[in-house]
Amino acid sequence: METFSRKEIIDLLKDNSQNDRLFAFADKVRQENCGDAVHLRALIEFSNICRCYCKYCGLQVNNSSVERYRMTPEAVVECARNAVSSGYKTVVLQSGEDKYFSKDILCTIIKEIKNLDVAVTLSIGERSYEEYKAFKEAGADRYLIRIETTDRNLYNIMHPKADFDNRVRCLKNLKRLRYETGTGCLVGLPGQTIESLADDILFFKELDADMIGIGPFIAHPQTPLKDCSNGNLTLALKVMAITRILLKDINIPATTAMETLNFDGRLLALECGANVIMPNVTAFSYSKNYEIYPDKAHLDDDIMNSRSIINNKLKSIGRTVAKDFGFRKKQADSET
Ligand code: 5AD
Repeated sequence: METFSRKEIIDLLKDNSQNDRLFAFADKVRQENCGDAVHLRALIEFSNICRCYCKYCGLQVNNSSVERYRMTPEAVVECARNAVSSGYKTVVLQSGEDKYFSKDILCTIIKEIKNLDVAVTLSIGERSYEEYKAFKEAGADRYLIRIETTDRNLYNIMHPKADFDNRVRCLKNLKRLRYETGTGCLVGLPGQTIESLADDILFFKELDADMIGIGPFIAHPQTPLKDCSNGNLTLALKVMAITRILLKDINIPATTAMETLNFDGRLLALECGANVIMPNVTAFSYSKNYEIYPDKAHLDDDIMNSRSIINNKLKSIGRTVAKDFGFRKKQADSET
C-alpha cells in the first residue's frame, strides 16, 4: 500500500469495505514519518473582506449579511504576540482577498511578527509573484492556498471570475520561492466526482506539496449552494488518509470543517493521518463574523481552542504537543 495508481485511488475511494485498514495504515505512516507530536498553529483571521465570488464560501463578496471587519496591523501583531506568549510556534495569518492589505502593510506585519521568533504562515489568496517574493523576504515561511478542486470545469463553475491557471501558477510561484507550500481541496462539492478527487490527490503528489488541508464542503445558507447537501466526512477522511500514504512526511491538519460534521472530528482525523491542529486565536468579536461555513463561528469559540484542553484531548489518544516549529522533515524517498 506504499503507492497507488489513479485506478487504485478511485477503487479505494469507492469501496468502503477497507476503510478501517486504510485509516490504520495512514495512521502508521504518520507515526513512522512525523511521530506522535501534534503541531499547533495559531490561526488569526485578520480580515473577512473578500473580492472573490467562490460559490460555497460564506465570505464571498455577494453575501451582504456578513458584518465585515478588518483588524488593524497593530491588532494583528498584538494577537500574534499573545499566541507566542502562550506557547505557539507558528502563527497563521488568514484573510479574505482584501487588497487593503498591500504588499507594504503585510511586509511590516510579517517583519514585526518574525521578531517574536515564530514561524509565519500566510493564507491570503492569490497575489503576484512580486508580492509573494516580498512576503518571503520579509520572513514569511509558509503559504496556504487550496486548489479547491483540480476539475477545471467544476473550478470554473465554483469560482466565477477566477482563473484556474492562475491558481496553479500561484502554487508554482510559491514553490519556486521556496515557501513551505500548502494546498488542498474540498470534498463533496456539488458535481464533484470520485475520479476528480483522485486527480486532486495526484496533483498534491505531483506538486510535492508540503502541507495539505482537506475538508468536507458544508452548505452555507447565504450562498448559491445553500440547498446542496454537505460533503461526507468519511470520504474526506479517506482523501486525507490516501494523501498521507502518498506524501508520507508532510504536515496535514485535522480541519475544523471535519469537526462541524462530527463532534471530535479533529481527533478522529488525527488518528487517520493528520498531525496538525490550527486553533483559532482570533478574538471572538471578530471570528464570529468569519463564517466561511455555518457553525464555524461556534466552533471557533469551542474548547478545542484552549491549549490546556487540547493537551488533555491529545493525551487521551496518546499524542503530545510538538515543541518545535514544525517544518516538514523531508524524507529522502519522497523527493524522488
Ligand atoms: N465548506 C467547507 N469549507 C469551505 N471553505 C470555504 N467555504 C467552505 C464551505 N462552505 C474552505 C475553502 C478555503 C478554506 C479557507 O475554507 O477550501 O480554501
